[in-house]
Amino acid sequence: METNMRYPEIISALPKREGLAPSLDFYEYQGFWFPLVYLEATITLQEHFKANPEDIFLCSSVKTGTTWLKALAFSILTRDRFIQSPNPLLNTVPHECFPHMEVDLGDDPSYRTPQLPLLATHIPYTSLPKSILESGCKIIYICREPKDAFTSYWHMLQTLKHLSTGPDAREPAPSLEEELEMFCQGKSAFGPCWDHVLGFWRASIERPETVLFLKYEELKKDELFYVKKLAEFMGKPFSQEEEIEGVPEKIIGMCSFRNLSNLEVNKSGFYQKGRVYNNSFFRKGVVGDWKNLLTEDMKVMIDCTTEQKLQFSGFTF
Ligand code: A3P
Repeated sequence: METNMRYPEIISALPKREGLAPSLDFYEYQGFWFPLVYLEATITLQEHFKANPEDIFLCSSVKTGTTWLKALAFSILTRDRFIQSPNPLLNTVPHECFPHMEVDLGDDPSYRTPQLPLLATHIPYTSLPKSILESGCKIIYICREPKDAFTSYWHMLQTLKHLSTGPDAREPAPSLEEELEMFCQGKSAFGPCWDHVLGFWRASIERPETVLFLKYEELKKDELFYVKKLAEFMGKPFSQEEEIEGVPEKIIGMCSFRNLSNLEVNKSGFYQKGRVYNNSFFRKGVVGDWKNLLTEDMKVMIDCTTEQKLQFSGFTF
């Protein structure tokens, strides 16, 4: 057991998979596999987090376009504020523009960015703090096709390995084959990704007025449509004047992979007290990059899992 583990009586009884270091060990809690640090924060949030009705939650599993959605939502909601002054995205990684719940609120669940109703989280739908669902807050979810999400996750793990080389590091790190096996079993960060998606998708069918469900691939195909949809959903639609001035297009340009990935702040520096490189959130940003990593057998393995997991659900990627 971890010496300083929070909630040791709950956590030490859970099924466990070793991660790159003890703080990154995975525990199966309420049907999903959480890295330890985020599990501790999740339990704290389940006990203490109080949502405000006007809060808007950006939800996602990992490596599905969270960073992009954060940049877009932030730019849409703050567009009046930064006409004269420089947009904070020019020198702040999108993750630091407002709190990511299990990263930033574990010690102080009441913290909010002044005058900004945005919060983000990877916590699965069924494990969200109760007050989020009870207060009828708006939720925006983004999902991504699992082969690309896994490919992005695998590359992210390679960057984390460099940061997990302390005395606690577990070596050797899992091979691609081993990690893929774990992913298909759901034993990866916030996995199973299929169950994660289905939780929010079902909620979006039941309550479309409060849950907006997006797909990374569709957002890529028609950014203008979805940026307008996001603005409307968040209660800040673009005026005719703004549309004539091309404000939605400017936001799309500011948040584009090309722009964000070339900013100095996103090319250098660290997020989460040194745990993650900022540039690891900006790798390629394309659809179908799994073809450059996975063999035919690996592709089939993920596709079969997807088929089984989504059977009878009505949902397709
Ligand atoms: P790749 O690794 O496939 O390039 P998350 O933000 O949830 O961690 O997801 C990261 C993925 O989103 C990475 O995918 C990253 O390159 C991509 N991404 C980041 N910013 C993006 C943007 N502005 N537009 C499109 N994709 C983006």
